[in-house]
Amino acid sequence: MNKITLGDRCFELFIPHSEIDKAIAEVAQAINREYENNCLMLLITLNGAIVFAADLLKQLTVDCRISCIKLSSYSGTECTHTIKDLIGLTEDLTNQRVLIIEDIVDTGNTYAYIVDILKNQNVKDIKIATMIFKPDAYKHSLPVHFVGLPIPDKFIVGRGLDYNGTGRNLIDIYQVCE
Ligand code: IMP
Ligand code: MG
Repeated sequence: MNKITLGDRCFELFIPHSEIDKAIAEVAQAINREYENNCLMLLITLNGAIVFAADLLKQLTVDCRISCIKLSSYSGTECTHTIKDLIGLTEDLTNQRVLIIEDIVDTGNTYAYIVDILKNQNVKDIKIATMIFKPDAYKHSLPVHFVGLPIPDKFIVGRGLDYNGTGRNLIDIYQVCE
């Protein structure tokens, strides 16, 4: 299916699932290399990152645990610029190597917010792995360590990413029609 409708918007096929799977496999390999012989805490950002996290986890060979945090900054296709911390951290992260797992890094506000929260947690180090990165929209200077696919500044859905709550289950990634 090359075009789909979600609510009031039309979306067209942008990245086929084979390409996404290949990118995720490469991210997994890079993480396995980076954290070899280390314990890793994956901090998964709900809801969007659960699909990427599940795909990634199955390919990790390093000793790892998971914890989830829920934030939101989007309403429809527009960034609201206010991040609400909905579910906070429950784990003790002292001395842990933390890897934030994101579906997408857009402005980077969410990433910067999470890093800010973790500053008071005495973690060993913080890195991020994101399925999708929009470098043209990125407003921060924090390094984005593991990137599946960089894309232009377009609104996309699928593989966990939603438009008003729908489209997360799509196996391919779609972009909003011009
Ligand atoms: P940031 O804080 O601007 O980096 O945006 C982070 C969050 O906004 C992501 O985790 C997504 O939930 C959402 N988001 C950003 N871009 C898109 C998109 O193109 N489609 C769907 N959600 C997006
Ligand atoms: Mg998200």
